[in-house]
Amino acid sequence: MIAVSVKPLFIAIFTLSLFLAGILLSPSTLFSSSLVSPSYSSAGKLDIWSVRRVVEWRPCGWWLQGHLTALPAENNGYIRVDCYGGLNQMRRDFCDGVGIARLLNATLVLPKFEAAAYWNESSGFADVFDVDYFIQHINGFVKVVKELPPDIASKEPFQVDCSKRKGQFDYIESVLPSLLEHHYISITPAMSQRRDRYPKYAKAALCQACYSALRLTRSLEKKASELLEAIPKPFLSLHLRFEPDMVAYSQCEYSGLSPTSMEAIKAARGDRKPWTGELARIWRKRGKCPLTPSETALILQALSVPTNTNIYLAAGDGLMEIEGLTSVYTNVYVKSALLGGEDFTSMHGNTKAALDYYVSINSDSYMATYFGNMDKMVAAMRAYKGLYKTLFLSRRAFAELTFQGLKGKELMQALWTAHKGDFIMGRGDIVSFVSDIMLVAVPFWKVWWTAGSHFLKSLEID
Ligand SMILES: *[C@@H]1O[C@H](CO)[C@@H](O)[C@H](O)[C@H]1NC(C)=O
Ligand SMILES: *[C@@H]1O[C@H](CO)[C@@H](O)[C@H](O)[C@H]1NC(C)=O
Repeated sequence: MIAVSVKPLFIAIFTLSLFLAGILLSPSTLFSSSLVSPSYSSAGKLDIWSVRRVVEWRPCGWWLQGHLTALPAENNGYIRVDCYGGLNQMRRDFCDGVGIARLLNATLVLPKFEAAAYWNESSGFADVFDVDYFIQHINGFVKVVKELPPDIASKEPFQVDCSKRKGQFDYIESVLPSLLEHHYISITPAMSQRRDRYPKYAKAALCQACYSALRLTRSLEKKASELLEAIPKPFLSLHLRFEPDMVAYSQCEYSGLSPTSMEAIKAARGDRKPWTGELARIWRKRGKCPLTPSETALILQALSVPTNTNIYLAAGDGLMEIEGLTSVYTNVYVKSALLGGEDFTSMHGNTKAALDYYVSINSDSYMATYFGNMDKMVAAMRAYKGLYKTLFLSRRAFAELTFQGLKGKELMQALWTAHKGDFIMGRGDIVSFVSDIMLVAVPFWKVWWTAGSHFLKSLEID
């Protein structure tokens, strides 16, 4: 840290000019300490992580500083958050629910976690997350009880379904009356809620729940860290999403897939027909179609990710066409091979997803081929931890460029340019997901300033 006590403006200008001069003379040395350490791929070309950023996302952790607003002495009732879907969707809804409970001055009971039907399981909150740790670390932010008071313990909560409400509805207006009337309600938070309008104490509860108070159960965390140990370092965690259900859901059609994959997709489609003709083109151009493993391999090469990179596949069991990736990238690791077979078969989908999450927030770099709940949660957590090597591969750019007829070197160059732009500007949809609650964009002059002060420090001018 540089202590700026005298003539800060002068120092700022001095630093900036020094820095600008430095950029013109030798760009890489200046940035090497704080921003990026240039690393070169086997081809000798700069890799994507070495590109100089202009805007980046920083952890702010503002809710951990300053005074907490005292919890009201009387609560307005009890809330259970009901969470459905995959693990990361449940995690997201639970985080939201904690914020809502604080907003309404309610006491939380432990949430209901109902895993997606396709996983055929019933692993609840306590099977994945450490309950005592959560209660301890959310203390002061929101009240949580394991047991309801006797007078309402026998009741089922009154169900308030917010999930289907559209627009910017207000929880105090539309949910508080039910809470006051029934004293015990269950909610599934609505995705459309404007969390940036919450009072600070409610945002703080949400942030604390999401980024500090959720930890895997002891046994699951042990397994996850064993898995992390077993992966050769450094490594890229790659979230591939080319599973039959995903492809069916996307309503996209692919050519050149194996008969087995086609069968699996057909079975998963049900009544959902894929788009055809012009509609299919438009849909694909809008970036709606999951990348295949071989398309992913092509983009990775365009980004100069060396083909001997260690890659951990954060993916479900049903991944299709994986040879498209493994025929190019030869050091690919999957959890079924790294964990003991018996260990693995006894695990639920939820707990497997928890392992992928754990590995991905601890990997050297993370790339997502889709923009799903896991990708949002992982990207936000990585930013919170100060890990900047996170990138969403652009399905839209890939579709647009291939529709333009680009091939070979030209395509690679264009893919590089598109992704470089995203990385430099700190773009990627993470912005819309977390900007209002926890991250601050560092404008370019501040990035320069930081780099400059490091530079000054190294010259011992400060
Ligand atoms: C909740 O408590 C805060 C004080 O912590 C108070 O300012 C706010 O009006 C209360 N809100 C509701 C909905 O009771
Ligand atoms: C779900 O699990 C039960 C027991 O664990 C099993 O008997 C059943 O066949 C499974 N169903 C499906 C669709 O996999």
